[in-house]
Amino acid sequence: MNTSSTDKAQPECCNQQQRNVAFFSTRSYERILFSELIKKLNVANDSSINATFFEHPLNASTAASCHGYTDVVVFVNDDINAATIKVLKRCGVRHVALRCAGFNNVNVNAAAKAGITVSRVPAYSPQTVAEHTLALILTLNRKTHKAYNRVREGNFDLGGLMGFTLHGKTVGVIGTGKIGQAVIRILLGFGCHVLCFDPLPDNNVTAMGGHYVTLDELLEKSVIVTLHCPLNEQSHHIINAESIDKMPQGVMLINTSRGGLVDDNAVIKGLKTKKIGYLGLDVYERESELFFDDHSQEIIQDDIFQRLITFPNVVITGHQGFFTIEALEEIAKTTLDNILTGENTL
Ligand code: NAI
Repeated sequence: MNTSSTDKAQPECCNQQQRNVAFFSTRSYERILFSELIKKLNVANDSSINATFFEHPLNASTAASCHGYTDVVVFVNDDINAATIKVLKRCGVRHVALRCAGFNNVNVNAAAKAGITVSRVPAYSPQTVAEHTLALILTLNRKTHKAYNRVREGNFDLGGLMGFTLHGKTVGVIGTGKIGQAVIRILLGFGCHVLCFDPLPDNNVTAMGGHYVTLDELLEKSVIVTLHCPLNEQSHHIINAESIDKMPQGVMLINTSRGGLVDDNAVIKGLKTKKIGYLGLDVYERESELFFDDHSQEIIQDDIFQRLITFPNVVITGHQGFFTIEALEEIAKTTLDNILTGENTL
């Protein structure tokens, strides 16, 4: 049984008990983790997961390669739209397993109509993303990325490195689900005053010391605004020219959720007028063209992204909020469980 083939030819057949699984957009670190876990699972559970790993993404143009697979495993930038679903259905795919929490890249209605179940990993480690959120806040504030380079060059001048004390500051958290709550807990530990906005408030947040307010009040009073809501029709460009206008001068904006929450043109304008004093992104609206690959020898064509990285007060990471060993192991375990049960978990 092949548990670790890469880009191999499609399997000739599969019976009901056997899961022939195509993994898309995979990188070496995931292939190693998934292969080892599949081997253990197959022995322990007498299950029969047969994995094929592709580096390329799953979308309407690549879906035809899924003939003979029972399940496909996809990531944040695979595009499982209605057209992709149609081809998957034709190929006999029965289940789409997302190895991530967000599912904005899957047309859930089209999948339901096609009788294809969809699963995801809703809570592998909210703390992992929360900690990365704090890494962005602290880096931007205390400019450790600049200090690192200066000291290496023998430059111990502190000019331009001045930060502000986080203790006592008001921070706005938009979206108080699992990750939002983990962020709130850390911020409260720093001694921040935390304002929250969520259409579905949670008593736990109030109990731990967060304060629910309207979105407008959060935007007006927070010196740091951090986004932890999913991308959907209501939240698309929740940060736009109008919302930026409501924020205090020099606000710090952090997005570790999904790029589409932020209107980048409005943010660039905000950075140019200094309304936005700091910007930390782990996600970007057109990240599928860039992230997870090495483009260092190419001319990057995305002028908005290129403009963003020219600002001295912008730090961008390439969607690595989830990237810890603990989180990856949990993602692999839950994804394989989801494949074995084949149930809809959205
Ligand atoms: P969750 O489902 O536990 O919480 C999301 C919260 O957002 C819910 O309380 C919901 O009511 C709220 N919400 C929905 N629409 C909203 C709106 N318009 N305004 C304000 N709040 C709204 O999700 P979780 O696990 O906390 O994840 C949040 C997001 O983080 C995911 O949707 C995903 O996009 C992103 N994420 C990013 C990762 C990374 O590596 N950077 C890794 C994992 C998740």
